[in-house]
Amino acid sequence: MTRWSLWRDTHTHTTFFVVACDWTDGKVFNRHHHQFNCAKIPRKKKYLSPVIIDMCSNFTVTSEIHTENCNEISSNAEEYSIITAFSFIYPRYMAAELKNNYPKYDEDDDLIVNRKKEGKLLIEHSISTELKFVGLQVWRGALLLADYILANPKIFEHKTILELGSGVGLTSIVASFLANEVICTDINLDGILEMINRNVQRNSEFVRAKLNVMALDFLNCNWSTFLIEKLTKTTIILAADVIYDIDITKGFVNTLEKLLGDDSSRTAYIALEKRYVFTINDLDSVAPMYEEFLRSIVKQNLNWNIKMIDLDFPQYFHYDRVKQMILMKIQKQI
Ligand SMILES: C[S@@+](CC[C@H](N)C(=O)[O-])C[C@H]1O[C@@H](n2cnc3c(N)ncnc32)[C@H](O)[C@@H]1O
Repeated sequence: MTRWSLWRDTHTHTTFFVVACDWTDGKVFNRHHHQFNCAKIPRKKKYLSPVIIDMCSNFTVTSEIHTENCNEISSNAEEYSIITAFSFIYPRYMAAELKNNYPKYDEDDDLIVNRKKEGKLLIEHSISTELKFVGLQVWRGALLLADYILANPKIFEHKTILELGSGVGLTSIVASFLANEVICTDINLDGILEMINRNVQRNSEFVRAKLNVMALDFLNCNWSTFLIEKLTKTTIILAADVIYDIDITKGFVNTLEKLLGDDSSRTAYIALEKRYVFTINDLDSVAPMYEEFLRSIVKQNLNWNIKMIDLDFPQYFHYDRVKQMILMKIQKQI
């Protein structure tokens, strides 16, 4: 069984960043800067404790997506980034539309026959970053949410959709297949908004809605009048894999509470992958950030109606839909 986790070996005081860990034989695949090293870690639980994120902020992390989806088509898109083709199967309604646009020809005047009915999003991203720049990578939550959008066109078509913590913009681009307007936001850090803009341009053939890219920081709720004006029209809020750090999780809960306001007609869809670590205190594997998220809701007495969505909808993108993944539908209970 493969798990993503972060451990510190308290015996040797060596810190490992563990991307994929196979608990059946104790091997750890440690991916750093494009290299796979295989190291043994102590199997005795007393030598293992979860790494405090602050302590390893200089360590690099790599999303599992980059090992599951190896369709890299170009390196050096910009410094430190690559372009990957994220292929997806057209949902039936898109395939039908495609058929109506036929015949299409390539530059040699040959008829383009898309038998597989597959589309490709060309996404620029980093392959390994420090924790504070994880938005420059693609995470499984983005693809889970993208799948849910494609599987449920009636929920998303003609809507104004706001995405929080959008990363490289993949989910917002997919939302724009159906929406009227998409407001794609993230913290304005290390060129992330510029990267989203480049990805929007790169996939312009798929972008049907008006797509605005702007800064929204969970830790600063002084929003610009332009953003507030956009938010008044928003009925759907999306966020994927933004629950991984204690301060960001608290900021995210406050931001979502402010966005949901007193309006029960606004709906948030939140995808996340529970990141398990073993703790000595619990003597068990726990998902501390997910638990912090739930604790914050209870502590603040938030009147949220949370429904877990079954993950049995079709899969259009290629990734491992692991059982640690969750998709929540959240509305304000009035
Ligand atoms: C793990 S990444 C997920 C990115 C993308 N949603 C995905 O699933 O591929 C977490 C995202 O949260 C964003 N984030 C971190 N701190 C934030 C903050 N204070 N305000 C808004 N977004 C933040 C990061 O920039 C990053 O895009």
